[in-house]
Amino acid sequence: MSMQSMSPLDLPGSDLDIAKMPGHWLLARLGKRVLRPGGLGMTRALLDDLLITSDDDVVELAPGLGTTARRILEINPSRYVGVERDTKAAAWSERQLPRARNISVVTGTADDTGLPDACASVVIGEAMLTMNMAEYKQRIVREAYRLLRPGGRYGIHELCIIPEAIDPAEHQRIDRDLSSAIHVGARPLRAPEWKSLLEQSGFQVTKVGHAPMHLLRPKRLIEDEGLIGALRIAKNILVSPKARRRVLAMRAVFERYQQNLNAIYVVAEKRQEAG
Ligand SMILES: C[S@@+](CC[C@H](N)C(=O)[O-])C[C@H]1O[C@@H](n2cnc3c(N)ncnc32)[C@H](O)[C@@H]1O
Repeated sequence: MSMQSMSPLDLPGSDLDIAKMPGHWLLARLGKRVLRPGGLGMTRALLDDLLITSDDDVVELAPGLGTTARRILEINPSRYVGVERDTKAAAWSERQLPRARNISVVTGTADDTGLPDACASVVIGEAMLTMNMAEYKQRIVREAYRLLRPGGRYGIHELCIIPEAIDPAEHQRIDRDLSSAIHVGARPLRAPEWKSLLEQSGFQVTKVGHAPMHLLRPKRLIEDEGLIGALRIAKNILVSPKARRRVLAMRAVFERYQQNLNAIYVVAEKRQEAG
């Protein structure tokens, strides 16, 4: 069981131009390892509600840099498979994990993982549905359903639009401004839409929780990355004007829409009688 060291060149997006690269890989380049809107606090709540035990076979969709994978493996599940579409992220996250036969990260797409039917008792995916278009969101949720055995649990952690009664034009404006700041197509949903996305595929929602969207606020940065990690990120932002411009633009959009954005997690179950 060894974890290998990695260089910044191994990071996803390391070959991309700072001005254009996806916001999550820019933050990764600056040293950030927690790339989801509700932070580690929400991940902890989600993992608690998924009730993972050493009997579980866990599939994680889009493990990114492996931060949640490491927490899942602390529970010592029977099996862990990550499915990540970015080749470098897949390699990075796998190298974060102990080497063992029951632990792997494969390069693949969450809507068509290639894994067998009913191979999992838990499926989890964080900060990945938001960046997939409506059709792909549905395909990914259907794939999670296919992967799960009856009684299995699916947990998501995503960006949420509030309030539920938001003017559709305002919702569109937020999507547009977010997408242009993070350079990724962002399509966050309102809470009832997230729930019905899961229900439409046959899931029964058992738990919903919210947290503020404070991804780039100092307090959250320290909670997620530790004091040293947060200071390192701050230093990296200071020494790169190009990166600073991008981070400030992202933070400006998050702050502009603070009243309309939060983080949501949803836990849902594939019913026992489901085939
Ligand atoms: C914002 S990052 C989040 C990473 C990690 N889940 C976390 O919360 O820190 C988004 C991740 O989703 C992955 N991703 C997005 N769509 C995907 C898909 N359809 N299949 C597999 N991975 C996907 C990206 O490659 C990236 O690693």
